[in-house]
Amino acid sequence: MSVWAVLAAAGRGERLGSDRPKAFARLGGRPLLAESLERLDNSGWIDAIVIAAPPDWEEPSILVAEEIAATKVSSAVTGGESRSESVRLALDEVPDEVAVVLVHDAARPLLSEDVIERVLAPLSEGWEGVVPAVPLADTVKRVDGDRVVETLSRDDLVAVQTPQAFLADALRRAVAGDVSAATDCASLVEAQGGRVKVVEGDPRLLKVTDTDDLALVESWLA
Ligand code: CTP
Ligand code: MG
Repeated sequence: MSVWAVLAAAGRGERLGSDRPKAFARLGGRPLLAESLERLDNSGWIDAIVIAAPPDWEEPSILVAEEIAATKVSSAVTGGESRSESVRLALDEVPDEVAVVLVHDAARPLLSEDVIERVLAPLSEGWEGVVPAVPLADTVKRVDGDRVVETLSRDDLVAVQTPQAFLADALRRAVAGDVSAATDCASLVEAQGGRVKVVEGDPRLLKVTDTDDLALVESWLA
């Protein structure tokens, strides 16, 4: 069974506020992208990788791959306006015969082999998608402007991360329609009636959003 990875790295990184896209902000002396790319490349589960890069950053993405001596990068495509569009454009580069696609955010550098294994395993048990999740630490409330409308029960809520794994056909169908409102791929698969399983995530899969996150992830680097 062939497994390809799509690395979503095409965002602008506006909240990080660097002079370059977030995937090229420095983490431990190299571009942020290098960390997740190296981990995907070293994974025994992954056969090939497509990078969705920001416009004009396709070649620099390939250079990062060369610098870390990655051997599995098939191409770097120009991403789209939204994350889901970037995934759709990268998916166009994945051959039809590939059975499974793993989608990961370059903004989550600290990918582990364990979590890759956890999201891939259930796909052979009848699930169309698998997402890693962590419990919510904070109390969550629904608000309307500055007014609290409702306090939600934390018991049946989780925070979902990437990597997310999918049967390739289910993901292709899911991203073919209107993807404008989606913040992750699994929600698109769910909307198509796909069965999505939740497995244990990893607190170290923190998504780098601002400079504090970058400093925290840097402190976690071995
Ligand atoms: N992403 C993408 N294409 C887009 C937007 C986002 O591939 N058009 C990717 C980002 O590169 C990131 C992941 O999706 O790896 C999660 O997005 P986010 O954390 O929001 O990153 P940015 O959009 O870059 O940051 P910001 O929203 O602050 O601009
Ligand atoms: Mg964004």
